[in-house]
Amino acid sequence: HQEFRTRGALQLTARRGLRSRDDLPIYNEYNATSSSSFHGMTHPFSRALLDWYAEHGRELPWRETADPYRIWVSEIILQQTRVAQGYDYYLRFVERFPTVETLAAATEDEVLHRWEGLGYYSRARNLHAAAQQIVALGAFPRDYAGVRALKGVGDYTAAAICSFAYGLPTAVVDGNVYRVLARYFAIDTPIDVAAGKKEFAQLAASLLVPDRAADYNQAIMDFGAVQCTPRAPRCLVCPLVESCAARSEGRVEDYPVKSKKVAVSHRYFTYVLLVDTADAESALFIRRRAAGDIWQGLYEPLLMESPAPLQPEEVAARLDALGVKTAATLEPLVSDLKHELTHRRLHVDAYRLRASQSPTGDWLRVPLSQLGDYAFPKVVNLLCERAFTPSSE
Ligand code: ADE
Repeated sequence: HQEFRTRGALQLTARRGLRSRDDLPIYNEYNATSSSSFHGMTHPFSRALLDWYAEHGRELPWRETADPYRIWVSEIILQQTRVAQGYDYYLRFVERFPTVETLAAATEDEVLHRWEGLGYYSRARNLHAAAQQIVALGAFPRDYAGVRALKGVGDYTAAAICSFAYGLPTAVVDGNVYRVLARYFAIDTPIDVAAGKKEFAQLAASLLVPDRAADYNQAIMDFGAVQCTPRAPRCLVCPLVESCAARSEGRVEDYPVKSKKVAVSHRYFTYVLLVDTADAESALFIRRRAAGDIWQGLYEPLLMESPAPLQPEEVAARLDALGVKTAATLEPLVSDLKHELTHRRLHVDAYRLRASQSPTGDWLRVPLSQLGDYAFPKVVNLLCERAFTPSSE
């Protein structure tokens, strides 16, 4: 795991540890219902959080800027991606697209390519479409309603952008916030029902420190990410441990509560990497994935989907139907490779096949040295590596 410098490391005083405790004489006095009565006062929870952040908050590149464009890009990346993975993507993305105009002017293909490997590709398509929206508007929107109206921007992202870029008092509510609040206040309203969402949004708003909205929002997210983690939270070094309701119940990991378990569906993918070896340089047949399913706009080799794994004879029969002769052998590349997506598990089989002609339909015949110009799902990149690295030749 990547380590990040913390803000406290930069401070001249070498204070370490749980200094916020001294500032918190009134533990256990506040709960979810009484917190809303904190007119104009900083809730001890919020004060402790800000103190914790001053010491332990991570130094991250999108925290060094007030540029709404960069903050927006970072928040979209971080929606479904951990900081450790999103960090380099963010830096590369804003280096290639330093302004909203440069992003708007790019092709969707290129934007997807820069996003390759991050997953949830609709984020990249929405980012690109919204960049064009912003350019048409003439400037980045300056208020909550305007930001919220951008494609791909929900309540969470709008609150994050408005507080970080403009200092507006909009409280963020994301998975970290649900977890931290549900635990600290021992709230057992499920977070995946309307009543829960409303209750948490109100509580979050009441805890926000209005003149320190940016720091407060960063603080609660960081606290959730590094301290009050989903599993094995670090309660022993937590500055809020004495007033944490879930901790006093001994049930920290029972929060947050969800009403339903989402079922995982299984999909069976068989890829056939059709390699044309007629020229000096081999070429692979690929095509762009259509709308309405995972990986829209990314490229892939020939794919057969089936309700259960396909036997090699079935693969050959299907290839026949697509006009691909299978006189050459189907060379197995992987069998039942498992690939996890949200609420889905893909079971991937793959073969390589020497083929001299394209299957029926619209296919691109791409020389192997040019595959790098196309955005592929992670699993396809892995198959290409297996198929085309010298050791397997
Ligand atoms: N996750 C979502 N937004 C974040 C941010 N601004 N900093 C760290 N992690 C985040």
